[in-house]
Formats: sequence, structure tokens, C-alpha cells
Amino acid sequence: MSRIHEALKKAEEERAASQGGPSQPSFAAAAAEPPMTAAAEESTAAGMPAVGVPLGSAMPSFASPFSLDALLARCPQLPWTPDQKTMLFFNGDDNGRGIEEFRTLRSRLYHAREKMALKKILVTSALPKEGKSFTAANLAQVLVRQHGRRVLLIDADLRGPRLHMMLGTTSSPGLADYLQGGSDEFSIMQRGPMENLFFIPSGQEISDPAELVANGRLKFLLQRVEALFDWIIIDSPPAVPVSDASVLAKACDGVLMVVRSNATPVDMARRARQEFPDQVLVGVVLNGTDSEAMSYTRYYYDAQQKNVTESKS
Ligand SMILES: Nc1ncnc2c1ncn2[C@@H]1O[C@H](COP(=O)(O)OP(=O)(O)OP(=O)(O)O)[C@@H](O)[C@H]1O
Ligand SMILES: [Mg+2]
Repeated sequence: MSRIHEALKKAEEERAASQGGPSQPSFAAAAAEPPMTAAAEESTAAGMPAVGVPLGSAMPSFASPFSLDALLARCPQLPWTPDQKTMLFFNGDDNGRGIEEFRTLRSRLYHAREKMALKKILVTSALPKEGKSFTAANLAQVLVRQHGRRVLLIDADLRGPRLHMMLGTTSSPGLADYLQGGSDEFSIMQRGPMENLFFIPSGQEISDPAELVANGRLKFLLQRVEALFDWIIIDSPPAVPVSDASVLAKACDGVLMVVRSNATPVDMARRARQEFPDQVLVGVVLNGTDSEAMSYTRYYYDAQQKNVTESKS
């Protein structure tokens, strides 16, 4: 986790040197040493009852209720009106600020995926307002920009849901309805104008988010639909004040930690990091670096390159 520590330390240094609050949508993204896990990435029609078939007998065939056809038929297309300022891939400017950093983040995740099963990623941070939802939404968009990739974005922040506002769509029905047992998988999903991007909003307001998130149905939901998607990106509440993120992480393959440049106290970032086992932490996103700090971004990548070179020699 040394790179994570390096990124956190750098964020703290930047905070100390800061003249004012950050506002630019630019990032330094750092992949941690990727862990190895034995979890299988692909599942078939998960959730279907297992059927034992004696050798030599004809295989019974089942039409899976979780096919692509079913997804497309049942998932409504809605007229989203994404926030043009923060939803970077909806405004048609492929060279806008922050876009390149999200592409870098994407390629780092693909590298990590070469060494571990990585499809379901939880995006979290230590404290509120550090850019978790911003990062989750833009990460889902950059992943879907690759031809043929299908991505599911889930708003699992049942305490302060924001993704539906960022995407300019409805918040219900959604995850809370499913976790309460009132809706099925496809009836809580929606899609907008971006091909292959699917979204599960938070759903109706509820009074017991911690209990709902921990009731096991999220894992069940993911098992049932994950074969339909290349990536599943899950937004979460902050990890230090409430336990939801560490519970949610148990249903995911990896955790991406957002650190807000000039804002996240390093001790808080460390506390958040301790909420998750080492092997699920796939990287740190340093959010909100300003234009002057772009040199830092470059420096950080250079530093990583140097480490790689040094460790090889
Ligand atoms: N890099 C950025 N550039 C511009 N605006 C940003 C950036 N990061 C975050 N924001 C904005 O800052 C605000 C807080 O970000 P966001 O909602 O993503 O934080 P959060 O960590 O999800 O907060 P919460 O803990 O309340 O869910 C939002 O209005 C978001 O659009
Ligand atoms: Mg949020």
C-alpha cells in the first residue's frame, strides 16, 4: 500500500500549501500494488438453482431471466439531463478538463484486472463531499466509452444520494426498493442517452439505511446481474462516519478511495483506509487538483515509473 500512503501524504502536503479550495475537475490516480484474489470474475446466471445432471444424460436447458434481451426489454430508457459541468463525458468535449485523468484511471483499472478478479468496484472516501459520486459517475462514463463495454452504475449512498441529480434523472424506483424486497432487478434499472450505461438510483427514502445495506440482498442483486456487465461501479457514503461502505465492500471485488486534494486530513484518510482489507484496495483517486498541481500529477507518475525502474535493477 505504499503508493496509497504516498498519495495520502502528498494530499496532506498540498492541503498545507493550499491557498484556497479546489474546484478543477482534474485527478491524480494511483493504483496500489494489485492484490491477488481467487474470486472468479465471471458468473453465469447467478441465483438460478443449481441442477445436478447425471453423466451421459441430456443437458436440460433453461432460458435465463437475466439475459441481455431481458435487460434491454425491461430496462426503461429515460430522458436524462446530465449536469454538463460535472458529467464530463456527456457534453461532447473529448478534450475537456479531467477527461484524460479518467482515461488514465480506466487504464490503471484494466492493468489491475490483469492480476485480480475486478468487476465490482466500490467508490468511497473518508468524509463527505470529497468527490465520491463525481468519481463514480465519470468513471462509469469513461468505461462505457470503450466500444462494446456495458457498465452498471449503482447509487448505494442511501443516506445522501446524488447520482440521480448529477445524471438528471429520477431517484426511484431504485436500490432501496429492491433491498426491501419490493422490486425486482430490472425494474429498478434505467438507462439514458449514453449507450450501454445502465443506472440503479438510490430508490425511495428510507429510515434504516444501515440495516438495509447489510441485509444481504445487495450481494444477491449483484450475483444475479453481474454477468450482463463488464463493470459495476458502486457509489457509497463516506467510510469514517458510517459503516455502510465497509459492509458494501464485502459484496465488491475492489475499493477505490477518493482523497480530495487540499481537503482530506491525512489521519481521516488513514482511518478510512483501515476500514478495508488490503487486498480489496485497488487505488486512490486524488480529486480536485488545480491547474498548478498538474505538475504534481506528472511528478507522481514519474515517481512511480522511477520506483518500477529501481526495483527492476
Ligand atoms: N473534480 C471536481 N471538479 C468539479 N466539481 C467537483 C469535483 N469533485 C467534486 N465536485 C463537486 O463537488 C460536490 C461534492 O462532490 P460529490 O457529491 O461527488 O462528493 P461526495 O464525496 O459524493 O459527497 P457525499 O459524501 O455528500 O456523497 C459536487 O457538487 C460535485 O459535483
Ligand atoms: Mg456522494
